[in-house]
Amino acid sequence: MPDRFDLPAGFRWGAATAAYQIEGAVTEDGRGPSVWDTFAARPGAVRDGHTGAVACDHYHRHPEDIALMRGLGLDGYRFSVAWTRVLPTGSGAVNAAGLAFYDRLVDALLEAGITPLPTLFHWDLPQGLEDGGGWLNRDTAYRFAEYAGIVADRLGDRVPAWITLNEPFVHTVFGYALGTHAPGRTLMFEALPAAHHQLLGHGLAAAVLHDRGLDVMLSNNLTPVEPASPAPADVAAAEAYDALHNRVFTDPVLLGRYPGLAALGVPDDLYGAVRPGDLDLIHTPGLDGLGLNFYNPTRIAAPTGPGGLPFDFAEWPDAPRTAFGWPVVPEALTRLLLSLRDTYGKALPPLTITENGCSVDESTTPDQPRIDFMSAHLDALAHATTEGIDVRGYYAWSLLDNFEWAEGYHQRFGLVHVDFATCERTPRASYGWYRDLIAAHRAKRAVR
Ligand code: FCB
Repeated sequence: MPDRFDLPAGFRWGAATAAYQIEGAVTEDGRGPSVWDTFAARPGAVRDGHTGAVACDHYHRHPEDIALMRGLGLDGYRFSVAWTRVLPTGSGAVNAAGLAFYDRLVDALLEAGITPLPTLFHWDLPQGLEDGGGWLNRDTAYRFAEYAGIVADRLGDRVPAWITLNEPFVHTVFGYALGTHAPGRTLMFEALPAAHHQLLGHGLAAAVLHDRGLDVMLSNNLTPVEPASPAPADVAAAEAYDALHNRVFTDPVLLGRYPGLAALGVPDDLYGAVRPGDLDLIHTPGLDGLGLNFYNPTRIAAPTGPGGLPFDFAEWPDAPRTAFGWPVVPEALTRLLLSLRDTYGKALPPLTITENGCSVDESTTPDQPRIDFMSAHLDALAHATTEGIDVRGYYAWSLLDNFEWAEGYHQRFGLVHVDFATCERTPRASYGWYRDLIAAHRAKRAVR
């Protein structure tokens, strides 16, 4: 069986974070409020009332964090740009101090020999745009493309590749359909215009970045969806869920069309959001890479009662669980990668794992589950590459323990432990393991 040492030569090793989850300094240097500042302040929205106001204080401690990355021997670092540092209300006058922060960050990364991989939108929409409807308003897509151009004009001379959006599925469903994330709307399927407008924003921003000669990627959290049984009703429910979770966010970008959503009772024009010509704007035949954030597969059954959703979530049988309760099924990553080739064929761009990792409960376990999780997923990834799937890199989620959205500081995903009372960083066993793996992989590839 292939293992992680069989990953190809030139494979890029990285770690990932996101602005609101680590930066803190939410009112400093002219940063405007985002939907996450507003949401986290709402009583009961985030577990134990935690907010990202301080988080890991990365805004001030980034030199220390870059030293930690250098210690790992990373090739790349994926971070996100906070839109409200650059444009405090989402559009209008540029906040020079905010842009300067990312300028310093990029320079410091390059000095450490680490390639910056910025994500332009990781869920922290400017509150100023939310006040005008957020992603439910088509205009937000155009504001996003303008913002992309501003950041690219400043950093594009040093940053070769960019991710437009992070996980538009999660942002749409948790943020707009269920209300468990910012901005906390509960529109159920009528949230789908927010998905369409994010994808439109992706397409418009991709054109802006391509015009400047930059590479463009999109990061989706794809999940292989398996029916709970071979019964036709379970298979049909699984197909409907696959369309909603995976295909809505990938088909338009790679194929220029939406999957049929009739099984979900959703109109083809996504409640009037899809206008003539939109799919040409979203379709990105020259997409330079598809980012995959992989955590777990999904098991779906037919709904048991009338009304409600056209699918039910089923337990994944016989799998260990992370501290978050997510099933650990590494071979599902191999299946996902192979199925992407079957679904998209030549339209599938090179892949990069832009997030993978797990939260570990420190009160009951040491760090070994994280090492086991990452090793097994890297083996599964190597398996897919030996089957001919083009995977170019792996970014561990996450460099640091951080603000895990609605869970606050309760889920610890870091290779580095953070004491949130003092912001002190302490590398975990998985940090040493990852550092040694990166070095060993490089050494093995160098002698071939
Ligand atoms: C992903 C998010 C990332 C982090 C991990 C655990 O869905 O992109 O910010 O929260 O999950």
